[in-house]
Amino acid sequence: MNTGFDLRMKRSGQEWAAIRDSILVMFAVFCVSVQNAVVTLSEGSQVALSASYPFIAVSVALFVGGIVYFIRHRAIHMQKKLEDSHEFLSTMMDSIPTPIFVKNSKHQWIAGNKAFWRLLGKPPEMMRGKSDYDVFPKEQADIFWEMDEKVLMSQEMSVNVELLRSPEGEDRLISTKKVSIKLENGEPGLVGIIEDITDIRRNQEELKAHRDNLQQMVELQTRDIVAAKEKAEASNQAKSEFLSNMSHELRTPMHAILNYSQLGRKRLGAEGDGTLSKYLHNIEISGNRLLGLLNNLLDLSKLEAGKLTLHLKPGNLHHTLEQSLIELDSLLDEKGLKFEIKNEVLAERAVAVYDHKRMVQVFVNMISNAIKFASEQSTITLQYSMGTITEGEKAGSKALQCSIHNSGVSIPDHELLNIFEKFTQSTATKTGAGGTGLGLSICREILAAQAGVIWAERGVENGARFHFMLPCGQPDDHEQVVTV
Ligand SMILES: Nc1ncnc2c1ncn2[C@@H]1O[C@H](COP(=O)(O)OP(=O)(O)O)[C@@H](O)[C@H]1O
Ligand SMILES: [Mg+2]
Repeated sequence: MNTGFDLRMKRSGQEWAAIRDSILVMFAVFCVSVQNAVVTLSEGSQVALSASYPFIAVSVALFVGGIVYFIRHRAIHMQKKLEDSHEFLSTMMDSIPTPIFVKNSKHQWIAGNKAFWRLLGKPPEMMRGKSDYDVFPKEQADIFWEMDEKVLMSQEMSVNVELLRSPEGEDRLISTKKVSIKLENGEPGLVGIIEDITDIRRNQEELKAHRDNLQQMVELQTRDIVAAKEKAEASNQAKSEFLSNMSHELRTPMHAILNYSQLGRKRLGAEGDGTLSKYLHNIEISGNRLLGLLNNLLDLSKLEAGKLTLHLKPGNLHHTLEQSLIELDSLLDEKGLKFEIKNEVLAERAVAVYDHKRMVQVFVNMISNAIKFASEQSTITLQYSMGTITEGEKAGSKALQCSIHNSGVSIPDHELLNIFEKFTQSTATKTGAGGTGLGLSICREILAAQAGVIWAERGVENGARFHFMLPCGQPDDHEQVVTV
């Protein structure tokens, strides 16, 4: 099939050299023949002259014949090469699955590859020389014609996407690229390359539908999650409110119970009924424990509701410790424990910024823990030192550090962080030690609200070491109110 596609062949340098050499050889033969004739003429011999003419004639005939033969041979050879190159181009174009066609300036198809004729559904012999109006409905042919015209005139590439009905009656979406070219005869023409984008578009649309669907699903799920979160927050809020109310409600009668038992013991006096006095004392001990628990629950509910307010003022932490110890003296005595303070002078000089009432709470919880877990008759040590805050907004600030050490039970290394979580107790103390596991988590929140830190370590030999740090300040720093 003649596609009309042309790969222009160039004569190689070797071919030109062969032609030139052949002409030179034939010209040499001619010159030798002519020279013989001239030599004969110069001798003035009439016979010798006439005897060389046939030879010259034969030489000229041979020369002309040779040239004619050579030109003919070259022409056949070139024709063959041209046909070969056409054949090669046709095969190459036909093997391309993309429909490709060539039109002349009259918008007529003059060449096309197999894929193109297949797309038209007509053989090339029928379609060559025909235009879009012979194949497509007028409205569509108008569009193609206009597009061709634009390319032929402007010589710019154009791309058009349109719907085409295939010979099988299927609507296909095609994108046609048209580029202007110069034809073999020098006239303007164009090459069209057609791409069937039906599947690509379909895939894109499917992808978009999937994406939309996915987005819708995510939106629905997000709505569910938000609703569940709001519900959980509402119930958490309700729980905190309940805890707060209950703690309040329980604290009031608890205070009354404690006051009346103290009053009863006072009335009985030293000589009163010993057993009754013991009963009242037991009521007081249990009542105090219950009150401690209620206070912790109340703090927890305040923390969860973000309603724990602290008043931060510069102060002397050692004085706060001394006030806390008043509450703890009887507990220390009960177990025969000694309480040793190291570096007191440092603490008296240092100014820390903190909420006095809340730090009493921290000291009481930490020292009462130490008392609870220390071995009988041992010594609890509290040591002051200077440190530096390493995390948070006050990172790098100078701080007063307080370390409390007691002998006795050691907390396993992997639990040293956990014990600061709500309702968490160490496995080393869980059995029979009582408590709720709330104190340390409240202490951690209180210290964090004051830009401080708290942590635990195992004792050097046994027991536990608890440390906390509070940033230092100036005596004239203003009071700050923070709510956590
Ligand atoms: N000084 C200590 N020695 C050993 N274990 C301690 C000490 N202080 C705290 N713990 C451990 O940390 C847990 C949590 O303490 P805390 O939060 O104050 O709660 P509670 O005292 O109500 O148990 C304690 O139950 C105990 O297991
Ligand atoms: Mg405690």
